[in-house]
Amino acid sequence: MSYEFILTRTEGRVGIVQFNRPKALNALNSNLMRELMDALEAFDANDDIGCLIITGNERAFAAGADIKEMANATPVTMLDSPNIGYYDRLRKISKPIIAAVSGFALGGGCELAMSCDMIVASESAKFGQPEINLGVIPGAGGTQRMTYAVGKALAMEICLNGRFLSATEAQQYGLVNRVVPVELYLEEAIKFAAEIAARAPVAIRLAKEAINAVFETPLQAGLAHERRLFYMLFSTEDQKEGMDAFINKRPPTWQGK
Ligand code: CAA
Repeated sequence: MSYEFILTRTEGRVGIVQFNRPKALNALNSNLMRELMDALEAFDANDDIGCLIITGNERAFAAGADIKEMANATPVTMLDSPNIGYYDRLRKISKPIIAAVSGFALGGGCELAMSCDMIVASESAKFGQPEINLGVIPGAGGTQRMTYAVGKALAMEICLNGRFLSATEAQQYGLVNRVVPVELYLEEAIKFAAEIAARAPVAIRLAKEAINAVFETPLQAGLAHERRLFYMLFSTEDQKEGMDAFINKRPPTWQGK
């Protein structure tokens, strides 16, 4: 399938989606978001892919929702637009997603990176929710996800005062997994994704589901949810294979069954 605003490729079991609107700093217009979700859902449905990467270019991961597209919007046109709903579709992707971020990850771009499961950042990455400068607030989860990640005091600065977080700060607060030099960030993300993609596929999907449940359920329900997923894995061939391989001191061969 050919796209206008994104590029897609695979490296072994890793599916990569790269934003391709460099002149607009990868601003997330409706068509780009639709293409992104189509590509992610196609990779999610492909048994040959075990982990996904979303990336931009060195200067910008994405500088936010497309302001030119939104400038004349009304509450009703915003409600009718699928744009924010795409973030709900992103949450339904069952395979792990790594955001490989360099340069600006602002507004909807920051929300998109935070909606992924892990972030590999280049030293030049800048995370921010500057919607306040446009007279609005984040609309795709920024106030919630940023606060979970960095705590209330700093989230207030970021959302109320347009403060950017550097890559190093983002790592200190646990928003980012790894920070690497600009020329290495994509390579590092692919290496990281390939390691995850080589692991037992069903267990990987359920581990992601259980961790993400933390943000949506009280502890008691989260523990019960995790336990059900854990028991369920004992019906897979991969559990038998993984434990047999350990006992017999050999590497496992995963079937995803
Ligand atoms: N939407 C549309 N176009 C954008 C854009 C955006 N979010 N961000 C950058 N662009 C465009 C610029 O208009 C400019 O286009 P032209 O060449 O046609 O003028 C081009 O990208 C390059 O940008 P700049 O000239 O501004 O580059 P810079 O290096 O001087 O500044 C920047 C970079 C600080 C990121 C600046 O572009 C900027 O502040 N961008 C807007 C960031 C922002 O406010 N994001 C939040 C959007 S709202 C949102 O995301 C809502 C939500 O929660 C879902």
